Amino acid sequence: MANVFQEAEPELGRLREIRIAMNGVTGRMGTNQHLVRSILAIREQGGIAVAPGEALWPVPLLVGRDERKLSALAEPHELEYTTDLAGALADCDVYFDAQVTSRREDAVRAAVEAGRHVYCEKPLTEDLASAVALARGADAAGIKHGVVQDKLFLPGIRTLKRVLDSGALGRVLSVRGEFGYWVFPGPDPAPQRPSWNYRAQDGGGIVADMFAHWRYVLDELFGSVSGVFALGATHVPVRYDEQGDPYEATAEDAAYAMFELDGGVIAQLNSSWCVRVDRGELFELQVDGSEGTAVAGLRECRLQPGAATPRSVWNPDLPDPVDHRAAWMPVPGEEPDNAFKAQWELFLRHVALDEPFPWDFHAGARGVQLSELGLRSWRERRWVEVPEL
Ligand SMILES: NC(=O)c1ccc[n+]([C@@H]2O[C@H](COP(=O)([O-])OP(=O)(O)OC[C@H]3O[C@@H](n4cnc5c(N)ncnc54)[C@H](O)[C@@H]3O)[C@@H](O)[C@H]2O)c1
Repeated sequence: MANVFQEAEPELGRLREIRIAMNGVTGRMGTNQHLVRSILAIREQGGIAVAPGEALWPVPLLVGRDERKLSALAEPHELEYTTDLAGALADCDVYFDAQVTSRREDAVRAAVEAGRHVYCEKPLTEDLASAVALARGADAAGIKHGVVQDKLFLPGIRTLKRVLDSGALGRVLSVRGEFGYWVFPGPDPAPQRPSWNYRAQDGGGIVADMFAHWRYVLDELFGSVSGVFALGATHVPVRYDEQGDPYEATAEDAAYAMFELDGGVIAQLNSSWCVRVDRGELFELQVDGSEGTAVAGLRECRLQPGAATPRSVWNPDLPDPVDHRAAWMPVPGEEPDNAFKAQWELFLRHVALDEPFPWDFHAGARGVQLSELGLRSWRERRWVEVPEL
């Protein structure tokens, strides 16, 4: 297994190089979140400090299909690039995949077979059987593996986790989340998401996209998901692609779901690319507990302790005497950092220092499982139990 890090002796101290083959890096997530705001940002800060005078130093090798796009991305940052995946796998410590979901399974399997550590975007694969097979294969190969679970590292969610851990909410009763915004169908204004997201045959659909997130958010903050009911909808039947041509939307662009969690918490989460935002942030999660309520967004978190809860009385005949919006206090936030970068740093420490990293392929497979069972619930129009994986 290639886990022998190159070492350099720069002015600042000892750098341990980790070569990362980054595939799918010309895409939206690959470029913005993973290359620029994570790996290049880590290099800009001088690497990941691991000991006095010692840092991990990620060295990206960009991998893709289109040499022109790769060179346009690589050259301004003086990075190496290649269209030869097998060659890249022979020459790296870590393989990273942010390709379209449908291409992930084969490439990740090749990386595992080559003995490389692997980190990749969610969902891990398109179906549960292949996700579990990859997780088992990765364990058997003895490599380190991880899946992006960025929402856990958002400042607002990290603050919420701190509020939950403090016990300020008492017993959590229910969770309600709204995720979404208006994705323009095109052609003008141009759509702000890729067209494959809206084609089932290309791995699209908001259930596969968002339930992979909801699984780890619910599991880690409130209790393991034990059941799901979901209803999807394709609200906008025709959209326009990157070339400005119309296409039929064959995948759902909204999903309305209810989850039961171990411990009895009930969660309702709406995911939609067809809503206009009347919230502070594109995602907000309200957590009602016996002793208080918290509302977390991507960056902010606010709290209403039980003792400060206004006494509401239903009387629509009069203006409401309570200023409900004023009954919340901001919770001092976590130090903001890019959520993807924060998780990258932990994965690279896991690879180099063997520090724990629980967000592995098995966690990724649980996300795929929830998407699959959510789609089954919708198809069969019934409540579906979620067996332990
Ligand atoms: N963690 C998150 O919050 C988050 C958010 C959005 C997307 N994602 C995931 O990231 C991955 C990439 O999504 P994206 O929005 O960046 O997609 P994108 O379409 O912008 O980029 C896809 C990348 O895959 C490459 N690719 C390979 N084969 C392709 C093909 N047949 N068609 C189109 N592109 C192909 C493209 O060149 C590009 O580099 C997906 O698996 C998606 O589920 C994660």
